[in-house]
Amino acid sequence: MSEAYERAWRESIDSREAFWSRAAEAIDWISKPASAWNETRGWFAGGTLNTASNCIDRHVTAGRGDAAALIYDSPVTGTVRSYSYTELQDEVGRVAAMLASLGVGRGARVIVYMPMIPETVFAMLACARIGAVHSVVFGGFAALELAKRIDDATPKVLLTASCGIEGSRTIAYKPMVDEAVDLAAHKVSQVVVLQRDRLEADLGQARDLDWHRLRDGTLADPVPEAAAMASDDPLYILYTSGTTGVPKGVVRENGGHAVALAWSMANIYGIGAGDTFWAASDVGWVVGHSYIVYAPLLVGATTVLFEGKPVGTPDPGTFWRTIVRHGVKSFFTAPTAIRAIRKEDPEAKLLKEIGTGACRAIFLAGERADPDTIDWLEDHSGLPVIDHWWQTELGWPGVASCFALGDLRRKRGSAGFPVPGYEFAVLDDDGKPVPSGQSGSVVIRTPLAPGAFRTLWNNPAGYDRNFATFPGYYETGDAGHFDSEGFLNIMGRTDDIINVAGHRLSTGQMEQIVAQQHGVAECAVIGADDAIKGMIPVAFVVPRAGAEDDATLHPRVIAAVRAELGAVAALKTAYIVQQLPKTRSGKILRNLLRKIVNGEQFETPATIEDPSVPAAIAKVIAAV
Ligand code: COA
Ligand code: AMP
Repeated sequence: MSEAYERAWRESIDSREAFWSRAAEAIDWISKPASAWNETRGWFAGGTLNTASNCIDRHVTAGRGDAAALIYDSPVTGTVRSYSYTELQDEVGRVAAMLASLGVGRGARVIVYMPMIPETVFAMLACARIGAVHSVVFGGFAALELAKRIDDATPKVLLTASCGIEGSRTIAYKPMVDEAVDLAAHKVSQVVVLQRDRLEADLGQARDLDWHRLRDGTLADPVPEAAAMASDDPLYILYTSGTTGVPKGVVRENGGHAVALAWSMANIYGIGAGDTFWAASDVGWVVGHSYIVYAPLLVGATTVLFEGKPVGTPDPGTFWRTIVRHGVKSFFTAPTAIRAIRKEDPEAKLLKEIGTGACRAIFLAGERADPDTIDWLEDHSGLPVIDHWWQTELGWPGVASCFALGDLRRKRGSAGFPVPGYEFAVLDDDGKPVPSGQSGSVVIRTPLAPGAFRTLWNNPAGYDRNFATFPGYYETGDAGHFDSEGFLNIMGRTDDIINVAGHRLSTGQMEQIVAQQHGVAECAVIGADDAIKGMIPVAFVVPRAGAEDDATLHPRVIAAVRAELGAVAALKTAYIVQQLPKTRSGKILRNLLRKIVNGEQFETPATIEDPSVPAAIAKVIAAV
């Protein structure tokens, strides 16, 4: 047990005002907030700041302009390039001038559909500088998903690149963007395209602008002033899977976000000015927003932007090589990446050969870390491997072992302890706390810590629903339990969300797509266990009368999900079955399907309508 952690957690709840006011001193405010927490106005009300200036300008002003801010390491293009804080300031300034020339100002939305390249980081920070609201869309999403986000965010400008590079494959982004812009009801009149050497995009639309040409054309323009943003002004919108087909636009505010992230770097990850931090995630996800872009820069550290995969770029030693090459002090990745490495290098030969240099700890998040993977990594790296839990909604960890507060308690299968600022409870269906060891809904008492969402874009009612089931608590959507020592174990979701290779997806959304395919009478999509990705979606399809022998049904279902949701959905398996297992009241028994497909022992529930269905389904699976 760490006294520093216990003290910090207690104070963050009992003396919220004092604790977070002190944490806010890590940020340069244009005008200081009147209070840390205000029931109606939220975190750091009355304060104004500029997040990008906090990430860049103040370090340059403090004389650290030559220190490395951003290292772009791209095994897929054979590039390693470092940007000092002064260079980052210049680059961000140029993109800010470009955006200003397109009429983007405070409050305007900018969609960023770009790969893991420095310009993506410049663009996000440039938006932050001028007070525009960026919305980064992960490259693995298909045109229709991008179109939904365009319609919700109604951007003035869309920034993209000619292509993304996924391992050995080049993925053209521009045709996808064109399709999305055409599909969307909101008409985007300016699409700025960064041409990459690997693939030239056709800039044939009237709305298309060439990034480099625009940059050159605005070189003489002054860098726009850093906007003074109120604490509760939005910094970005990040869409995440909800329980419907409509993505949830999580809104991140400037003030609480800056304070929380700076606090987390010092107290969870142990990173400060001059240290190198690497989050091997993607800027399209919340981990990328917080821990590739904003948090390391807020504290004056060096951040690594890695354009590659854990395996195949070029081999399963690429993570260790990158850690050593850049002197990474804390490293953050998803369990799925470690499982992928382990599969190709089971004896950890490359890890032993290359080592982990100056690295002091490895943090895992994004999905449940299976004990076996943690054991393997701890054994072979000799480093503490810290599982921690969070969500897009929160923006930073809610459950962790606060490593930098001296808390190194770890237990396989647990994500650790509540992080300061978060008071967790595990409740039964009636909203009563369950005894330790017993599973229930994992909830967080309001108010949520600084940095956590305080609304959903265009959807305040959707936001309120997160607080409706258990009054006074935020419903995380996860199920879990506390053990007798206070460790919180997150066991899975209470809704239809699954985590596929650390990517958050809704099976309900996939069901909607599958159900619409010609010849489908009804369907169910569930998350099956997968040795590498943690989970993969699997569809069960009941054909309409007359479509039973339609050999195109299976490929059409797979292709539809890929085309409408995106490659990232990774739906590769659809079983054509005669019936779905249902209760007599018509509810699909998804848990039963999950057990059957996982090859687990199952009991046929007494409520089942037709007891012969499970065996029939098991037979179909066995025959494939
Ligand atoms: N742009 C375009 N396509 C993308 C993409 C992107 N940014 N990211 C993924 N895709 C595509 C992939 O190419 C793949 O397509 P395919 O079906 O044609 O092969 C598909 O989406 C699924 O991708 P992925 O889930 O990444 O599977 P993979 O087999 O390519 O790689 C892992 C497996 C485990 C190596 C990889 O998923 C990984 O590194 N995961 C870690 C994720 C992570 O860090 N998440 C953040 C949480 S903290
Ligand atoms: P995302 O919003 O994409 O970050 O996904 C958040 C969800 O991922 C959580 O609600 C959990 O279901 C899951 N998750 C994230 N981290 C962990 C973890 N360390 N252990 C278990 N589940 C996790």
